[in-house]
Amino acid sequence: MPSTRRARPLKREVVGSDRCNGAGRRGIVPTMREQTLSEVVPGRIWASERPVWFSGVRLRARTSVLRLDDGSLLVHSPTPPSDGWREEVAALGEVAWLVIPNCFHHLCTPAAAAAFPAAKVVAPTSVTPKNPALRLNLEVRDLATAIPELAVIPLDGVPFLDETLLYHRPTQTLFGADVVLRADESDHWTWRFAARLTGCYKRLSVPPDVRKKVADKAAAARSLRALEALEVQRLVVAHGAVIDEAPVPRLLEAWRLIGVSL
Ligand SMILES: [Fe+2]
Repeated sequence: MPSTRRARPLKREVVGSDRCNGAGRRGIVPTMREQTLSEVVPGRIWASERPVWFSGVRLRARTSVLRLDDGSLLVHSPTPPSDGWREEVAALGEVAWLVIPNCFHHLCTPAAAAAFPAAKVVAPTSVTPKNPALRLNLEVRDLATAIPELAVIPLDGVPFLDETLLYHRPTQTLFGADVVLRADESDHWTWRFAARLTGCYKRLSVPPDVRKKVADKAAAARSLRALEALEVQRLVVAHGAVIDEAPVPRLLEAWRLIGVSL
């Protein structure tokens, strides 16, 4: 992708990581200002966003909270749990699950696990060597056995991400993290600028640093085709607005554009 002095190519170490303390060598420094949950699906799904700086570019990073049929909560891509955010979530119910959707969105989960000690931590096992502080209870690919209202769709062929999408049947909602992203006018100018250079502005796109890291396009295609069998009303990803118009066709088109045959 093109690069400039102000908006350098997006590196996975920073795009996909949400460092909680800014201590990483790559210099991610999330702003710890108060986050507020907004309702995505009444009574079932809420989300908060926080800015994440890296390489001179500021993304929005989303954490989603899903109320399951038994009333317990699943937190997807956990955020640094400020006191206010924790109180908002606790008012909704008991957090039973903390889900790390790929091998990059793990850095804030130990803090979230400390805030919600009864919650089980779910992640790809590939995060274990990356984060010694992480206490892993369940492989994310096995989550549907524990929560039957969910379907899991591992994105095979892209071990660089090792992402698993979740589909929540009662709300027909598909959750991903970095499988696609999108910038719009709500984003900081630094990301709008970089997104225009990389084809991500107002277009659902495969993250620039992922495009050349698809190890097995046929395997990725098989995984993505599985999405066509689902009734998906909305796609919730970590970086960008919720997609509620033709979410699956647009996701597939993003992958088709990088050479995955769909
Ligand atoms: Fe990410």
